[in-house]
Amino acid sequence: MSKRAIGIDIGGTGIKGALVDTKHGVLLSERLRYETPDGGTPKAIAKTLKDLISQLPGSSGLPVGICFPAVVQHGVTLSAANVSKEWIGLDADSMFEKELGREVHVLNDADAAGIAEVKFGAARGHKGLVIVTTLGTGIGTALMFDGKLVPNAELGHLQIDGVDYESKAAFSAKERENLSWAEWAKRLQKYFSHLEALLTPDLFIVGGGVSKEHESYLPLLKLKTPIIPAENRNSAGILGAAHWAKKRETD
Ligand code: BGC
Repeated sequence: MSKRAIGIDIGGTGIKGALVDTKHGVLLSERLRYETPDGGTPKAIAKTLKDLISQLPGSSGLPVGICFPAVVQHGVTLSAANVSKEWIGLDADSMFEKELGREVHVLNDADAAGIAEVKFGAARGHKGLVIVTTLGTGIGTALMFDGKLVPNAELGHLQIDGVDYESKAAFSAKERENLSWAEWAKRLQKYFSHLEALLTPDLFIVGGGVSKEHESYLPLLKLKTPIIPAENRNSAGILGAAHWAKKRETD
């Protein structure tokens, strides 16, 4: 019998979800997308999830994995990027379990992408330290050592040149400042060189929507560490979150 769970990816603008085969890392349903409700409050987001899950046939009783753009320690959301500040300090696992009437496990969005790459993507079988980065509105980072997650690495917020470097090197900065690929790559060079000097990783994997255009910027980077695109793009969060929930499901 296949292992199944629901994977949900909550972002500042959209909430995506699907039914997932967590053994093979494939979606068993259409990938549904809802707008994130204005303000992004816990109550409003829980209501959206209820609607979304009710549209997934065959999902009754399955555990739900939810990834979220925040530090998440043991199911408690400790920060909130682009969503309501009400999330800070909230026991999100319990709140969602109450609202959805089933087992829920919440984790950081980049950590979910890291799990997806280890289980079903470009990090499969890689030993040592793999750093998975997601370049989007912010910069998310996941530290994977020998295939195991070290949760909540917030390395997108490294201070470089006196600024939180996410504000310079995220994909949103490229768009906001109209940077060419070469101009953006200079900032990525600074960012990845810094990570390399601090952590000496064995591999960098670059995810997020812009990873599909990796040929425009990855070849411009000069690093000692190999740097490759992620294999799971739009569904990375969903796959990683579902796998996380299935693994933690209580009998
Ligand atoms: C947040 C991280 C998140 C990343 C990507 C950052 O601003 O601090 O928790 O993983 O954005 O969404």
